[in-house]
Amino acid sequence: MVRKLLAAVVAAGFTLGMASLALAGPHWLKGTTQQKFKKLEDIQEAMGSVMMEFNQRMTTMYFAAKGGNWGLAAYQLDEAQEIAEVGEMTRPQFAADLKVLKSANLSKVDEAIKLKSFDKFKGAFDDMVVACNNCHAAHGYPFIQYIRPNKPVEALKYTP
Ligand code: HEC
Repeated sequence: MVRKLLAAVVAAGFTLGMASLALAGPHWLKGTTQQKFKKLEDIQEAMGSVMMEFNQRMTTMYFAAKGGNWGLAAYQLDEAQEIAEVGEMTRPQFAADLKVLKSANLSKVDEAIKLKSFDKFKGAFDDMVVACNNCHAAHGYPFIQYIRPNKPVEALKYTP
């Protein structure tokens, strides 16, 4: 009886052990500390993914402002600024231009959102679009042209 119980406990322990191993998965971060840091560095968000997020957030912000959901517009702008900071960190060669975009353009968009004025917002947004594309051209991507969006990308409520 005791032996049977012991066998059951051992079996249960083994099953649990295997399950936790499966949950943890195999260790992918291998090598020296330096090699591990290099691996982690390599998978940080670079400009491509920062920009795809920019695209999505600016587009959502535009429809939020258009629909009068100013809270959503402000939220999208904040998140866009945060991801821009990731870009500044991981791709320092773009940091100065990203900072200019923030101080010259995103600040105006922010003002318009705070005033809840779609007229002002539209003007600031269109100026921002020009600045976005100027940076693309300046860095060898003249074929990447962001445009004032004509349809939303996210299934969100754009009205207040
Ligand atoms: C610092 C200069 C700079 C600014 C400012 C900038 N971009 Fe970009 N953008 C880039 C670069 C560089 C790429 C190419 C990224 C890469 O390395 O793949 C890019 C790529 C893109 C892409 C293509 C992403 C993809 O891979 O599909 C979009 C969309 C985009 N940007 C949108 C925007 C928008 C919207 C703004 C303004 C709110 C903006 N960008 C402002 C430099 C900039």
